[in-house]
Amino acid sequence: MLIGSGVAQAHQPVVLLDSDTTAAKGPLLTDGTVSYAIRASFTKSGQKKAFRAQLNAGDALSVQYLIVDKKPENALRTSALPRLVITSPTGTSVTVNLNERVKFYEPFSKVNYLYLSRYSAVAKAGVYSFTITSKGKAEITVAVGDKEIAGEVLRGTKPTPTSTTSPTPTPTPSASTSGYTMAQVKANNSAKSCWAVIDGFVYNLTTWINSHPGGAGAIVSLCGTDATAAFKYQHANQGKPAAKLDSFRLGALSQ
Ligand code: HEM
Repeated sequence: MLIGSGVAQAHQPVVLLDSDTTAAKGPLLTDGTVSYAIRASFTKSGQKKAFRAQLNAGDALSVQYLIVDKKPENALRTSALPRLVITSPTGTSVTVNLNERVKFYEPFSKVNYLYLSRYSAVAKAGVYSFTITSKGKAEITVAVGDKEIAGEVLRGTKPTPTSTTSPTPTPTPSASTSGYTMAQVKANNSAKSCWAVIDGFVYNLTTWINSHPGGAGAIVSLCGTDATAAFKYQHANQGKPAAKLDSFRLGALSQ
């Protein structure tokens, strides 16, 4: 069995937005072998959310369809859960078959999941599309990739990742192609310029300090640090904080 031992240990979270209605509009995982947890939540039937992942010929394409093991999702019939269609670079589509219901405890965020499907294939070179269509209110997680290293997620059509993913640029040194360093993060350790690392990505939280519903102090205490544990302790598996966080992403932390 594939359960346990870190399968979803440090999957980097990506929250699909309401505007990610087609694969082209959704985020692009620049290396589909790096582990990501893509969250998609829906309020009603017929909504679509989609993303893309780039793979090289011969790479392992590894996809898991998960739901949190609690109501309402775990009480839904399989036919009421969103449909996931994977389209290969050559245009072949498969609908992921929800054929299992295996419990899985994810120790990092302390969440009980159910695996509903695990799909793997040898990849063709190019961009795979993943389209999720709802059949009612539901939230699912699609885990992609196995490598527990920091990866890069691009949004929008522009090729330059730092300019498209950085909503609040600061005068501090910008990322090289290999990502931001911990030294850069530590240099932005005040309410004037507040960066933090969460799950291998660097975020600029400066503008969020005075807008955070949980108080400015909670964010100020994160400035200049790796805030993964603090964020997860408070907000593991909550859609709104994860989506908000996503909007502050500068880029990957270099290894
Ligand atoms: C970058 C980090 C964080 C982000 C992006 C974030 C984001 C959010 C968001 C969007 C909400 C509103 C949730 C909703 O309306 O459903 C919220 C609420 C809250 N957050 Fe955070 N948060 C972060 C870090 C933290 C930390 C470290 C703590 C605690 C130490 C914390 C404590 C709280 C509390 C207590 C609330 C609830 C406030 C209330 O309902 O009155 N947050 N956060």
